[in-house]
Order: sequence, then C-alpha cells, then structure tokens
Amino acid sequence: MNAGIIGIGRYVPEKVVTNHDLEKIVDTSDEWIRTRTGIEERRIAGDDVDTSDMAFHASTSAIENAGISPEEIDLILVATVTPDRPFPSVSCMIQERLGAWNAAAMDVSAACAGFMYGMATAKQFIESGSYKHILVVGVEKLSKVTNWDDRNTAVLFGDGAGAVVMGPVSKGKGILAFELGADGTGGKHLYQDEYIIMNGREVFKFAVRQMGESSVRVLEKAGLTQEDVDFLIPHQANIRIMEAARQRLNLPEEKMSKTVHKYGNTSAASIPLSLYEEIEAGKIKDNDVIVMVGFGGGLTWGAVAIRWGK
Ligand code: UT7
Repeated sequence: MNAGIIGIGRYVPEKVVTNHDLEKIVDTSDEWIRTRTGIEERRIAGDDVDTSDMAFHASTSAIENAGISPEEIDLILVATVTPDRPFPSVSCMIQERLGAWNAAAMDVSAACAGFMYGMATAKQFIESGSYKHILVVGVEKLSKVTNWDDRNTAVLFGDGAGAVVMGPVSKGKGILAFELGADGTGGKHLYQDEYIIMNGREVFKFAVRQMGESSVRVLEKAGLTQEDVDFLIPHQANIRIMEAARQRLNLPEEKMSKTVHKYGNTSAASIPLSLYEEIEAGKIKDNDVIVMVGFGGGLTWGAVAIRWGK
C-alpha cells in the first residue's frame, strides 16, 4: 500500500503587508528585502485569527477536496511552532471544530521542516495499515513571535496554513521516499525566547548545503535521478537559498515553485501553500515526480519525493 496526497487546501490571511509598509516601522528598504530575500509582501493575521483558525480553514478545504467526511479521518498531525497555547494542541482544537470524532491528534514540532516530518509520519501509519486517512497541516502565525523592531527578522516572516489529506493511492504513486534529519548543535542559531532570534548568516550557510544534499539523497533513496524530477517545491525562506537547491538539481527555473515573493517565510506552512498554488495553476500533472524539501530551527531538515496522483 502506498501513501499519497488525496486532497489539499490552504488559508492565507487577507491583510497584505508590503516591504514599503515595513520601511515605515524598521530601518530597511524595499530594495534590500527584494534583492537579499526575494520577498515583496507577506500576509499577516489579525488579532482575531490565531493558528488554530487558519489550520481549521485550510483543513476544511483539504477534506472537501479529498471527498471524505471529517469522521473518516483517523489521525490529525499539525506541524507548527506557533500553537495558540502549549496545550491543548492545535490538532485537538481543530479535531473539535472539524467534528473529526474518530481521529487521534497531535502536533509536530520541527519548525520549518515540520510539514516534511508530518508527511513522513503519516506515511508510516498508512502503509502499516494502522490508519487510512490522515490530515497533515502546516500552519504558522509567526507574526505573534516576531520582534517588529528587529530588522534582521521582521522582514522575513508571514502567516498562513496549508493542509493535505493523505491516504492510500495506487501502486507506483504517492510518497516514493523521504529523508529526515536534525542537528541540535545548531539550535543556537535560530530559536524563540519571547521572539524569534536568528543568526541569519549561519542559517543561510546550513540551508544552502542542506537543501541541496537532502534533495539529492531523497532522489537516491527513491531510485531516481535529477532528470526524473518534474517539480521542486523548496521551503520558501529566501530566493537565494531556493535557487541554490534548484541549481544543485540542474532544474530550469520554471520547474521550481516560487511563492516567497507574496507570502514570505511561513515556516511549516510554506511547502503545502506552494504545492497548493502549483496545483491551482495547473503546473502539476498526474504521474509528475515532485521533490519537496525544507529546513528549519532545531536545526532540522526533511525531504519527500512523491509521484503525483491517486
Ligand atoms: O526558515 C528558516 C529561517 N531563516 C532563514 O531562512 C534565514 C537564512 N538567512 C538569510 O536568509 C539571510 O542571511 C538574511 C536574509 C537573513 C540576511 O541576508 P545576508 O545577505 O546574509 O545579509 P547579512 O546578514 O550578511 O547582512 C548584510 C547587511 C548588514 O549590514 P552591514 O553589517 O554589512 O553593514 C546588515 O546589518 O545588511 C544589513 N541588514 C539589513 N539592511 C536593511 C540586515 N537586515 C537588514 C534589513 N534591511 N532588513
């Protein structure tokens, strides 16, 4: 039995904050942000919208897209580092709102690699036959842990949610391979006290190396080569990091998903949000091989190779 994606949804807050808006609150410029990160604008959730609200909306559309009822979900995995509160988990909060009464629920904490950890975990439960339908959500309200006086971090992040329903798919489709990793010695470079604290240069070096290496390793594990890749969906942290991964795989520009310009870095939400956009734009076809790859605080990393289709 192979585990694959059978439904997808997303939610982004309405409020758009442009680089020019940020020029008014920190010592930065639209030009600096564009050239150093590729970001032009980001979405920011209002005080009345917390992480669980975004997760709920993305999940509702993913479940509808999968054509199942909430009672058919066996497990909810929410990847987030910005839960409404330490407990109950965001997964339990949305279990109630969705009416997913038969689902177990837990949150996954692996920062920006969280969605990769969630998908790899879901695969185990589905392929072992333990569970049939698993809701995997990547969601973040980073604006509530961003220090809006710190130009090193304030320009980078945004809020949003992406969700998928995973379930059994036909032979040859679904997740072909995954690879996860962590290096706790790098935890000091990216963490949250009250707000996000980051050593940008150290994280940048790690990310450029890890995104390329993880993508290559996950293809090896799947028994594929770079020529087999139809689409790369990298974590949308910084266009320069994403470009390094694309070049490592020798892919043309049109084969890499790019949403960082309009959403910024949405951490665990960035990969499912990008996947959603590419599907909406008709760029992903049945049988396409997609590599998703992310890195984040921890430090953590993860990659998933998937053959698209049910
Ligand atoms: O999901 C994981 C989360 N984290 C990341 O992905 C971050 C990875 N790192 C990066 O993306 C990049 O390191 C940054 C975008 C954060 C910074 O880019 P950089 O090219 O590494 O810049 P830098 O840190 O080397 O700083 C260059 C200059 C510095 O000025 P001096 O020391 O050369 O005078 C900074 O003070 O740019 C300055 N600077 C800014 N200037 C205008 C730093 N932030 C800003 C800013 N606006 N927002």
